[in-house]
Amino acid sequence: MADYLETEWSSAATAARRERYYAQSQKKFVPFKEPMVFRKGSMQYLWDTEGKKYIDLLGMNVCISVGHSHPKVVAAAMAQAQELTHCTTMFYHPTPAHFAEELAATMPKGHEWVVHFTNSGSEAIDLAMVMARTYTGNLDLLALRTAYHGPTSAAQSLTGIAGFRHPGMPGNVAFVAEPNQYRGIFGPGTEPYLDEIERTIASATTGKVAGIFVESVQGYGGIVEMPKGYMSGAAERVRAAGGLYIADEVQSGFGRTGDHMWAFESDGVVPDIVVMAKGIGNGFPLGAVVARKAIGDVMAEKFMFHTYGANPTSCAAGRAVLKVIAEEKTQENSRQVGAALLERLKDLQQRHTAIGDVRGRGLMLAIEMVKDRKSKEPDADVTAAVFESCRGQGLILSKSGPNRSVLRMVPPMCLSLQDVDRVADGLDRAFTEAAA
Ligand SMILES: Cc1ncc(COP(=O)(O)O)c(C=O)c1O
Repeated sequence: MADYLETEWSSAATAARRERYYAQSQKKFVPFKEPMVFRKGSMQYLWDTEGKKYIDLLGMNVCISVGHSHPKVVAAAMAQAQELTHCTTMFYHPTPAHFAEELAATMPKGHEWVVHFTNSGSEAIDLAMVMARTYTGNLDLLALRTAYHGPTSAAQSLTGIAGFRHPGMPGNVAFVAEPNQYRGIFGPGTEPYLDEIERTIASATTGKVAGIFVESVQGYGGIVEMPKGYMSGAAERVRAAGGLYIADEVQSGFGRTGDHMWAFESDGVVPDIVVMAKGIGNGFPLGAVVARKAIGDVMAEKFMFHTYGANPTSCAAGRAVLKVIAEEKTQENSRQVGAALLERLKDLQQRHTAIGDVRGRGLMLAIEMVKDRKSKEPDADVTAAVFESCRGQGLILSKSGPNRSVLRMVPPMCLSLQDVDRVADGLDRAFTEAAA
């Protein structure tokens, strides 16, 4: 069966086909100067067509939560695909029903939670926008600068980075300053950023809002953690204006931040709606909106049909992911291995002046490059040079942040302490090379 589809594996042939047949919109997002073709993945490792091994610190854009081709996840999805690959949501199927129950059980206790499965994170974001507007009867939404919420028109309208925004997005979104503790416009602290929410509601909305969307840790924005008190304070202020608090856990969820299953838990806030995707399926396409029941119930009047939402194959993968997280203690591993890696990154900061900041929690980490530590002027060139050099060292990272001056690390949660040494040593060499 492996030969059923004839495939030409050479990098040159793949590059030529992409160049000829991909639309420009799908060609832009290319990280390295030379094409990179991966042939195989296993847990935290990848192999290219020449057999070179890499540590995947990007986790294929945070989709690989418990490990590439994790045998238990693949087996669960394969078994389901062989039995019944797809079952439209109008018919009942136990796999998504079980998964909805299991996901709801991960939410804060004392509330009734309901689940709507989508195909992707941005679809889930769109649905959360509709739910918030329908439930509250308000139109205006708040989002954070440097936020990323997805490529659909509605999700783009919440995205606070110009490079991801295209013409024709819907409006009624007001942006507030992201509480970036390293380079935020109000400096470090929480209160000035919360005051900004109040000012924005008073000046850029009708005074009544449908809600605020907050990534509990901003991902593409360059691993921007919400400081203590921000998420709960934002929820309080938005609720006072009639709105809901919507947590985007697409990157930060499923135990990645180490201390909690959901990163919003670090601030004691109980969201009204939680959006999740990516790591939920360990590479199988899936997203979900988990909402308080009363909020989900307002959607009873009209159809909201995602063709592949609640697809049993992806949901079988999702169920297996939750089981693996519990059995293999991946959240605890994220905490321990992430802490060890953070230490090593701080050590690199001592020795390489290009590193302005090191930050993050669990296995959601970043280093930010600057031209000068005092002025904090972002250095995209050094970032690109280190990034390229890391390829040679067998490390795959991501260039992130609005200035492409951040190296983001969001590996599969099975990264080991031995890997930490390889990562730190490889980065050390890459910084030395970049400075030469
Ligand atoms: C925080 C966040 N929200 C939403 C999305 C959109 O998810 P998707 O790409 O599955 O549509 C992304 C994707 O990168 C994301 O990082």
